[in-house]
Amino acid sequence: MKITVVGAGAVGATCADNIARKELCNELVILDIKEGVAEGKAMDLMQTATLLGFDTRITGSTNDYAKTAGTDVAVITSGIPRKPGMTREELIGINAGIVKSVTENLLKYSPDAIIVVISNPMDTMTYLALKSSGLPKNRIIGMGGILDSSRFKYYLSTAMGVPATDLQAVVVGGHGDTTMIPLARLATYQGTPVSNYLDTETLKKVVADTMVGGATLTGLLGTSAWYAPGAAGAALVESIVRDEKKLYTCCVSLEGEYGQNDICIGVPVVIGRSGIEKIIDYKLNEEEQAAFNKSADAVRSMNAALENL
Ligand code: 2OP
Repeated sequence: MKITVVGAGAVGATCADNIARKELCNELVILDIKEGVAEGKAMDLMQTATLLGFDTRITGSTNDYAKTAGTDVAVITSGIPRKPGMTREELIGINAGIVKSVTENLLKYSPDAIIVVISNPMDTMTYLALKSSGLPKNRIIGMGGILDSSRFKYYLSTAMGVPATDLQAVVVGGHGDTTMIPLARLATYQGTPVSNYLDTETLKKVVADTMVGGATLTGLLGTSAWYAPGAAGAALVESIVRDEKKLYTCCVSLEGEYGQNDICIGVPVVIGRSGIEKIIDYKLNEEEQAAFNKSADAVRSMNAALENL
């Protein structure tokens, strides 16, 4: 099994670190355009192998895609990250060109790869990778909802004083501060509705905090977050390479599901060895479906911006 992570920034390096620790492959390539950075991060990570006990071989490459040949799963993290006060959407102009050329280069050497997109604005970058590559829709997966759902569980766990791993909660819709939809009605604490434990006001605050979860971190860190985004990317890769068939919210191409067409947006999907294996229908109520449609409209208008680039 061979995995490539494109982009040796904080998200890419954290993702690679998690992939190696979990021994998801025997060969892991990190690629970046900045001379020496991918090689340096790969060497640094390799020097953790005896300390952490993994046998994955990690190599770095400065923009030489030949070294990625035969990749089974590729993770695209390249592009510029958010600065405080910036939305993910403001990155579109620069990141679109990068994601398009990275996708082309990857597929030139690994025509069968499954691609996980992390670069922002993620929903639009996933749509761009799908349209520009012409790949079947099961092979392009955007990482957003799995991260947002993890943040939702974090904020719920803090409000309830319980372990996040005892909670189930999902965020659907776009991966944007105003487009994501934490599904409070369906959130449970070991099978019981969280509304049994939190009053309406507190639950509303948890939802609002979740929606700006990424922006809050960008404000604190001066750049966008990396531990949770990197771990979320690795969790997706794990479900693919181990054929786990885990149910995660991912940004995928819809053809009528959730009432939408010609869009990539976050919905619950089963992730296995062929990538996206099944879209699960959560049977949203009227209010949730209206929010989903509004989110889809916003994502679609951002996708339209691709035509003017
Ligand atoms: C985030 O939400 C990087 O979009 C990512 O932190």
